[in-house]
Amino acid sequence: FPHHYSEDLECVFIPHGIITDRTERLAKNIMNDIGDNYITVLCVLKGGYKFCADLVEHIKNLSRNSDKFISMRVDFVKVKSYCNDQSMEEIQIIGGEELSKLTGKNVLIVEDIVGTGRTMRSLLSHIEKFKPKMLKVVSLLVKRTQEGHGYRPDYAGFEIPNIFVVGYALDYNEYFRDLNHICIISEKAKAKYKV
Ligand code: PRP
Ligand code: MN
Ligand code: MG
Repeated sequence: FPHHYSEDLECVFIPHGIITDRTERLAKNIMNDIGDNYITVLCVLKGGYKFCADLVEHIKNLSRNSDKFISMRVDFVKVKSYCNDQSMEEIQIIGGEELSKLTGKNVLIVEDIVGTGRTMRSLLSHIEKFKPKMLKVVSLLVKRTQEGHGYRPDYAGFEIPNIFVVGYALDYNEYFRDLNHICIISEKAKAKYKV
């Protein structure tokens, strides 16, 4: 671990190398499924930034080495629903004025994690209003939760148990996003960084 987090982490849950391999595989699957040769990647900030950057890189490289060149737009939307490890009453969607440009586009929403599914359901119903041609979701992680809203993304990297994970852009009150691995934090760290 990076030195400054050594006391805060319980263990590595998914090492960075495994994330990279899985992301490349997801990029291949997505490429094979796209009927057209254009795509708009919509990164869900903040948690999606690392996964999205790596996925875009893989799609670009695959596209360059195949006869099907994909022209790519990259867009961002900021959605916030968690404080500490609890979801808040209200889901904030920021940067919405840009979303009107999604009309008629093949949109791939890129998210770090689907927990209860509440965030994604709310984002999807918002984006559907702008009538994209295609609307698909890829999430690096999907949680198996009791309180799940039964939502399943079109593409999922890993299915994980109902635990709070951080790293690879997933945060606890903005901490731990800089970790390369996906890790489990200690109860001590939860108290230490609580707001
Ligand atoms: C987290 C995560 C997902 C969402 C999943 O975002 O990045 O976007 O919660 O939760 P749900 O499926 O239970 O609704 P967060 O609100 O922490 O904002 P962030 O991405 O800026 O960290
Ligand atoms: Mn998020
Ligand atoms: Mg968060």
